[in-house]
Amino acid sequence: MRVLLTGGSGFIGSHIALLLLERGYDVIILDSFVNSSPNVIDRIKNYFDNNNLNYNLTTIKGDIRDKKLIDSVFYDSISKFKPIDTVIHLAGLKSVSDSLINPLQYWDINVCGTNNLLLTMKKYECYSLVFSSSATIYGLGDSVPIKEDHNISPINPYGNTKVAIENMFYDLYKSNNNLWKICSLRYFNPVGAHASGLIGEDPIGLPSNLFPFITQVAIGRQKRLKVFGDDWDTKDGSGIRDYIHIIDLSEGHLASLDYLNSKQSCMEFINLGSGKGYSVFDIIKQFELSTGRQIPFSIQSRRDGDVAQCYADISKAKKLLGWTPLRSLEQICLDGWNWQMKNPNGYS
Ligand code: NAD
Ligand code: UFG
Repeated sequence: MRVLLTGGSGFIGSHIALLLLERGYDVIILDSFVNSSPNVIDRIKNYFDNNNLNYNLTTIKGDIRDKKLIDSVFYDSISKFKPIDTVIHLAGLKSVSDSLINPLQYWDINVCGTNNLLLTMKKYECYSLVFSSSATIYGLGDSVPIKEDHNISPINPYGNTKVAIENMFYDLYKSNNNLWKICSLRYFNPVGAHASGLIGEDPIGLPSNLFPFITQVAIGRQKRLKVFGDDWDTKDGSGIRDYIHIIDLSEGHLASLDYLNSKQSCMEFINLGSGKGYSVFDIIKQFELSTGRQIPFSIQSRRDGDVAQCYADISKAKKLLGWTPLRSLEQICLDGWNWQMKNPNGYS
């Protein structure tokens, strides 16, 4: 089965690519490398070569907005009698703060890019799609755990683009109920790394997310963590989130592919998280306990746009996909630290 994986060189895409290849899928990674390193592809290849495993990977450097290129990717596959069966679409921009400064870029890449992809899929009769949506669409999240039917009210342009894309899917699905098979997966906080330490999260510049910041403090690249507020209405005053091991999240995509294969047509919006809420202080404590590294921190004022708590109700994913996250917070810390230790400067 041939899968087109857009954004396959990024943090999440690289882990999904590895699992897909391990399970025998024929994978085309399409990535512009605007937010990732081409070295990621070599690491994936090394993993299979070092373990003497067969794999079927094609890499294409390109932009999802490039109509000619996307057309040729589908056309070439068909002309080689290996049509693309499914698309896993992750390519896009994801920084909340950057989206406030450059909203048009976010609308162009995320929304217009997805529109181009869908138009081409339709042209070549590829109707099966898994998409990376985000918990950010739930906005302030007034009731936890958050279910899929929670109010959709994003509070930043990045979130608005994810909602626009989900609406586009819904309209498309409704236009012909028997054609499209779409799973839009709403990720919570993917963290950690593959146990090999070959691939992991390597943010460009100063990490804006908690977990990569902690691993960079532990390795000495950052001096101390800033905890954004200890006065939230939570058990210890710090923000609570739903951290999910990147491999659990990736396995959710494989389960989604199986689900799509079992259906004639469908349109599902599904939360992917651990279903558990951990505070910033919980994460610091667990990381210190698991790795033996101290994480110095200082308390700062709240970060704009943050919420007190956000964690998922994952009963829909469990029921529909037969999927359950298996890895503990301790495993997340161990694997994330293993990656950072083996790659103090990331992929560079
Ligand atoms: P990432 O930036 O590491 O990966 C995205 C990849 O897309 C990068 O390799 C980048 O080079 C590529 N890309 C960007 N614009 C492109 C374009 N125009 N054409 C082709 N490739 C392009 O991000 P990630 O954390 O792996 O996230 C993947 C997806 O998951 C994104 O759509 C993101 O919005 C979504 N998501 C991520 C999180 C998270 O916390 N990481 C949470 C919710 C949703
Ligand atoms: N935090 C700190 N210090 C830091 C970074 C974060 O205290 O240096 C705190 C935040 O205030 C928050 C928690 O750690 O309480 C988690 O923050 P992250 O930035 O790691 O994650 P968010 O939940 O804010 O956002 C992430 C992605 C969004 C995505 C969202 C839901 O950045 O793009 O998860 O999927 F939409």
